[in-house]
Amino acid sequence: MRFFLSLPRFRRDPLNGFFQTALTYGDVVRYRGLWVSFQLSHPDHIQQVLQSNFKSYVKGRGYQILKLSLGEGLLTSEGKLWQRQRRMTQPSFQGQQVAGFVSAMAENTVTMLQRWESHARNGVILDVVPEFMGLTLNIASQVLFTTNLEADTESIRHTLDIGRDYSVDRAWSIVQLPLSIPTRRNREYRAALANIHGIIDRIIAERRRASASIHDLLTMLMEARDENGAPMSDKQLRDEVITLLTAGHETTTLVLAWTCFLIGTRPEVVERMAEEVSFLNGRTPSYEDLVKLRYSRTVVEESMRLYPPVWTLARTAIQADEIAGFRIPAGSEILIFPYITQRHPKWWPEPDLFRPERFAPENSAERPRYAYLPFGAGPRTCIGLNFAMTEILVVLAMLLQRFRLKLAIDPAQVRPEPSVTLQPRPGVPVILERI
Ligand code: HEM
Repeated sequence: MRFFLSLPRFRRDPLNGFFQTALTYGDVVRYRGLWVSFQLSHPDHIQQVLQSNFKSYVKGRGYQILKLSLGEGLLTSEGKLWQRQRRMTQPSFQGQQVAGFVSAMAENTVTMLQRWESHARNGVILDVVPEFMGLTLNIASQVLFTTNLEADTESIRHTLDIGRDYSVDRAWSIVQLPLSIPTRRNREYRAALANIHGIIDRIIAERRRASASIHDLLTMLMEARDENGAPMSDKQLRDEVITLLTAGHETTTLVLAWTCFLIGTRPEVVERMAEEVSFLNGRTPSYEDLVKLRYSRTVVEESMRLYPPVWTLARTAIQADEIAGFRIPAGSEILIFPYITQRHPKWWPEPDLFRPERFAPENSAERPRYAYLPFGAGPRTCIGLNFAMTEILVVLAMLLQRFRLKLAIDPAQVRPEPSVTLQPRPGVPVILERI
């Protein structure tokens, strides 16, 4: 425990800065800056904030910045509005519904893998990050709106990139100019936002006019009713759609990319995964098949332990609390780092080693539940968890049915860069081998 603030050093290397602080000063670290912040690393304290005492906290100050892009969608809303939206949205993410999305996941994966055929023949070095970005965005748009947004994909991706960079810069700035002041960045950001709003508003309007019923996530959201029988407004629908597009596609991309990075140097892991999918005899997996991919699932879990796309979670205390004997005044910021807790030597022996066996049931029983939280925890846990795991397993299974990936870069040169999400820099370049 200690008082301290060194923003420039933390900005240069936040992962290392916060990690070393936790190792040096312990489970609860207090920072004094514009406001008081507490960094928590112990699973019990994390459980208190995210689960048992979650009513004393709201999403952290950084989420106010995300609100500029995501409005009052599920990720950023609070209180009664969040509760209403969560209840209305949850049914669309249950197993049976997700099972219905597998064909869209598989179709889009086939299209990507067909493109990869010629890359393999020509020995092209391919960065899988943009490949998976395109794939997951196409899957998300097909599942959400049925229409493949091919024409708009580039524009949406560009817009989401601008939004992300803007949010990160704003989060680290001491002075945050109002969006209405016409600086170059503000103008660029507002134009990007207007563009994506335009695309989504157009899709919603077309859907309202459509005569035939279409079975996709947008229809499910439009048909959802709250306890008074009221539907979502167009603005609320738009916020939820942008939220789902944003929250769902980059995170899933990064898990796929980091997993390729990790298995790219471990042929024995790849062979075990390939052996596991061999019962499919080359056919596309169904939702029911995925329970059999036990080992592959542990590979993905271990990948998310080492490289959680959401590397940090923040909350603001709205009433005073007490954690491990420390008084947490209302208004304090709570910083939780899945990246740190999931690599903490107290819970993970040889934490930096990639060892999927950690997640075998016999090796997991002793571990505190909140030592692992790639999807968050408590009532605000990721609504897309099952969707994401399904998509990741479908893509990996189909990929291994056709290709082997060899890393085309020295693994020591790939670093996790903590933007809003944890990105592999400079990328994950691979050489594809057709099997
Ligand atoms: C591997 C991929 C994914 C990861 C690692 C991930 C991670 C997370 C995390 C850590 C949170 C909690 C944030 C917090 O507590 O502050 C979260 C929330 C959320 N995620 Fe995901 N996510 C993934 C995929 C998805 C997908 C595919 C969707 C939707 C299609 C999605 C939609 C959401 C939404 C709407 C929330 C807010 C839930 C709420 O507050 O009620 N996520 N996600």
